[in-house]
Amino acid sequence: MIRWIPLFFTLLLFTSLATSDDAARHDRTPELSAEQPGGDFTLQSSRGEFALKQFRGKVVLLYFGYAKCPDVCPTSLAVLAQALGELSDDELKMVQGVFVSVDPDRDSFQVLDDYVSYFHPNLIGVTGTAAELAEVAELYGVKYSKVDLEDSAFGYAVDHSSTTYLITPDGELRFMFPHHTPSFVILEAIRYVLTADLSR
Ligand code: NI
Repeated sequence: MIRWIPLFFTLLLFTSLATSDDAARHDRTPELSAEQPGGDFTLQSSRGEFALKQFRGKVVLLYFGYAKCPDVCPTSLAVLAQALGELSDDELKMVQGVFVSVDPDRDSFQVLDDYVSYFHPNLIGVTGTAAELAEVAELYGVKYSKVDLEDSAFGYAVDHSSTTYLITPDGELRFMFPHHTPSFVILEAIRYVLTADLSR
């Protein structure tokens, strides 16, 4: 049987373990300029305007990256998809996964839709103008920058922080999962927020 590990300590543990290896540069703790990170924003998707406010009543899992990312995004989205895949249909109705592309020049809505649907049908891909994205990134402490790749068909990569954000049905940023957080931790957090009435 699964032994219950208090989520808080589990998160601490994985935060402290996430120090080395291939993705070290992605393990930076988000630099938060605001005292209260998070907040509402509006971007675009293939379905039209995407406003975080529209998802009140749902748990939102938010991740920032780009579709051509060679390893970091696929790893994170696979972990998120694994957690989503463990949810029942009823639970899944209360959850929305959101992938924010910080590479709008290459990530058209079509590219984004194809990309996220590969991982899980619950995911929606959104993006915006460079200025809009910079504003959202500032809210969440996301860092990203273009890195020119010589001798590569990709042209450039985008170095970016890799944190998965959990936003409560009240629109409050509740958890930030560092890169390499295992899916069961994210799953426990989703279920915790779904079952706990945090507003009372
Ligand atoms: Ni990436």
